[in-house]
Amino acid sequence: MSRAALHKLRLPVMAAPMFLVSGPDMVIAAARSGIAGAFPTPNCRTADELDRWMEQIAQETADAPGTWAANLVTHSSNARLADDLALVAKHKPPIVITALGSPAPAINIVHHYGGIVLADVVDERLGRKAAAAGADGLVAVASGAGGHTGSLSPFAFISSLRQFFDGVICVGGAIADGAGVAGAVAAGADLVYLGTRFIAAEESLADPAYKQMVVDARAADLVVSAAITGTPASWLKASLASAGYDPDDLGKPATRDYGGDPAKKWRDLWAAGQGLHAVSEIAPLARIVDELETGWTAACRRLAAFGDKNDT
Ligand SMILES: Cc1cc2nc3c(=O)[nH]c(=O)nc-3n(C[C@H](O)[C@H](O)[C@H](O)COP(=O)(O)O)c2cc1C
Repeated sequence: MSRAALHKLRLPVMAAPMFLVSGPDMVIAAARSGIAGAFPTPNCRTADELDRWMEQIAQETADAPGTWAANLVTHSSNARLADDLALVAKHKPPIVITALGSPAPAINIVHHYGGIVLADVVDERLGRKAAAAGADGLVAVASGAGGHTGSLSPFAFISSLRQFFDGVICVGGAIADGAGVAGAVAAGADLVYLGTRFIAAEESLADPAYKQMVVDARAADLVVSAAITGTPASWLKASLASAGYDPDDLGKPATRDYGGDPAKKWRDLWAAGQGLHAVSEIAPLARIVDELETGWTAACRRLAAFGDKNDT
């Protein structure tokens, strides 16, 4: 997997890794639709389950026009990191995304089989650290993102990373339609991470009531708070209320706890980003990608028209 290969995708889009939402069906549908699909390895409760997921994904995407990625937590709290890395070496995901820690433990393993490592970062300082550690790319999680969110504007973030980094930049955060994808690419990104837009895909693992809430909600129905996990995250207020929280008074940030069982919180408390307005139905992932392509093509034409005007 090279940067040039990434640029050959049907659209420069990755269905972003989402805890308890992205599974093999979604990743396979994404690759078959010509984009990249990703899942976080903690979605598998055991290394055996991860082995089966990766085996299925690798087999069923072998001839696909798109590609796939595994997202690993490289923080020392991940007791399964060595097992996850051994399975990466076995199944060779073309893209590995590291989160909550340095990309360094994955780099040699992934380069050995020709894959690339992207490091998830929320600010320029972390971007510089990941670049110095040898990451092939940076995933810039910007403001408005679902789940653990960044706080920087995607435009400022991409531009600040481009001042020192000429590798792959993937940007995510509230980008949910084809025009937004084109805007991010025009700003300097190679790839765009879309999470929220895919929660209500038929292939996602999300609870049907969660999917419907994503269809019905708008950005005003979100609250960003560190009170649940200790890190700012964007939550659907209605899911917090159903679980007994007061979404307007969530209180102080929780103590950061990378251990324990995070699924307990994320199963009932539902996260989403500001691109909610773009989700109007529960739909097959292939149809979502068709819609993204329509918006992307129209936006590229608008950009090209500016170029034509400047030529005359
Ligand atoms: C429900 C949900 C779960 C998420 N879980 C993870 C995760 O496990 N690992 C991760 O790196 N990012 C996670 N994210 C963040 C996404 O990978 C991505 O950065 C984000 O969805 C992009 O913003 P958007 O939702 O506005 O498109 C999650 C996002 C959501 C909405």
